[in-house]
Amino acid sequence: MIWFLLLGSIIFLAVLIFLAEEFFNLLFRGYAPFISTKNKVLDEAVKQFHELNLPAGAKIYELGCGKAGFLRRLEKSAKSKYTLIGVEILTTLYLLAKIQLAVVGSKIKLRRKDFLKISLAKGDCFYCYLGQSLTAKLSLKLQKEARPGSYLISNQFHLPGYEPIKEVQVDLTNWLRIYKL
Ligand SMILES: C[S@@+](CC[C@H](N)C(=O)[O-])C[C@H]1O[C@@H](n2cnc3c(N)ncnc32)[C@H](O)[C@@H]1O
Repeated sequence: MIWFLLLGSIIFLAVLIFLAEEFFNLLFRGYAPFISTKNKVLDEAVKQFHELNLPAGAKIYELGCGKAGFLRRLEKSAKSKYTLIGVEILTTLYLLAKIQLAVVGSKIKLRRKDFLKISLAKGDCFYCYLGQSLTAKLSLKLQKEARPGSYLISNQFHLPGYEPIKEVQVDLTNWLRIYKL
C-alpha cells in the first residue's frame, strides 16, 4: 500500500512538473510543445538521412528530441556509425527518454538543454520538428554558427533564409524539408 502511494505521488509530481514546464515554455518562450513525429514520417526521415551519405563518425542532433524517436530509429539502422545527440529542454521528458534509452542499452547521448543556448557548430546533420516560429529562431542561429555543408531535416516547417534541396510529401498533410546549410 505504501509503495503504491509512493509511486502514485511520484507520477503525480512528474505530471505536474511536465505541465508547468510545458506551460512556461509555450507561453513565455514561444517554444514548441511535445508532439511525437508519426512513425511513417520518422521512417521516411531516416531513409532521407541515409541518402545524404554522411561519413562514419558524423555528429547527428535531434533538436527538441522529446523521446528521441528519430535518433532511436537511426541507431537501429546505422548501429554505431554516427554520434547521436538528443537535446531536450523539458526535464521530465529528458528523464523519461534517459531511462528508456538506458533500458535498451542505447548509446544516444541526451542533453537537458535549450538548443538555442548551446553551440551547434559541430553538427553534421540536424533533425527537428518544432513549429514555425521556433524553426525561424533556429535558422538565425544556424546562419551564424552551422558548419557550411551540414544538413537539416525539418519535419513540416520551413527554415527561413535557406532553400530546401529536397521536399518530400510523406502523406496528405506531412512534409519533410531537407536543407544544406
Ligand atoms: C514537436 S516536439 C518533437 C519531439 C521529437 N523531436 C519528435 O519529432 O518526435 C518538440 C520538442 O522540442 C522541445 N523543445 C522545444 N523548444 C526547445 C528548446 N529551445 N530546446 C530544447 N528542446 C526544446 C519540446 O519540449 C518538445 O519535446
